Amino acid sequence: MAKQLLALGNTVIVTGRNKEKMNQAKEQYPKLHTYSVEVTDIDSIQDLYEQVTRDFPTLNVLINNAGMMNAIKFQTAKAKGIADEVNTNLAGPILMTQIFLPHLLQQKEAAILNVNSGIAYFAFDKAPIYSASKLGLHSYTQSLRKQLKKTPVKVFELAPPRTSKPMFSGTEEDNASVDRVPEVPISEVVRKMIDGIKKNRETIVPGMSKLLKLVGKIQL
Ligand SMILES: NC(=O)c1ccc[n+]([C@@H]2O[C@H](COP(=O)([O-])OP(=O)(O)OC[C@H]3O[C@@H](n4cnc5c(N)ncnc54)[C@H](OP(=O)(O)O)[C@@H]3O)[C@@H](O)[C@H]2O)c1
Repeated sequence: MAKQLLALGNTVIVTGRNKEKMNQAKEQYPKLHTYSVEVTDIDSIQDLYEQVTRDFPTLNVLINNAGMMNAIKFQTAKAKGIADEVNTNLAGPILMTQIFLPHLLQQKEAAILNVNSGIAYFAFDKAPIYSASKLGLHSYTQSLRKQLKKTPVKVFELAPPRTSKPMFSGTEEDNASVDRVPEVPISEVVRKMIDGIKKNRETIVPGMSKLLKLVGKIQL
């Protein structure tokens, strides 16, 4: 995503917890700017907000991309792992938005893009907390869009299908069933994301995610 956004001439800031990974990204793409943040920690987001808005006063796009997916069996799962997943996938984007919103509202044009998942549309029992937190993110994104309707901040949602960087890792049997779902190259998902934004499409649902959305409607 950063690579394609840079190629379009944008100033791109990437964030994460792992400095080594960010340094590697910067080595590969020297124009990238990198900052540390823990999206589940309000103080860490506040620090990021202060640094980034000081260094880039015209920052006008927030992409909430951090996410994690755990294969969970409720009989054996640990509460801490469940809390981390809800906090990263749902509380993280909500808190990031809340803290960056005053700055975005001051810009002439701005956007928030929440990276969701095709799995948001139906109950995927092999990764149930991922599925539930992404459905929550979908609902939050819709409310946010309604509340910001008369402001300069547009709200987009990307629901990628299974990509060439699979997130799921469970039992051999569970993996085999997930492996039947075709993978889409991330570069293609990002191209569709950029195209969707250019066309002002609020919800961008590439490839197989459209089918998941349909299955979800039948399931619910
Ligand atoms: N991969 C897929 O097939 C797929 C499909 C549909 C949707 N998605 C969605 O796409 C997004 C990106 O997924 P990915 O496949 O790129 O996952 P990934 O390779 O695991 O990357 C997740 C990113 O989020 C950051 N991150 C995770 N927890 C964080 C936290 N608590 N605070 C700050 N940063 C955090 C990680 O950085 P650090 O490690 O440096 O913290 C990493 O850069 C997720 O929202 C995911 O749900 C992915």
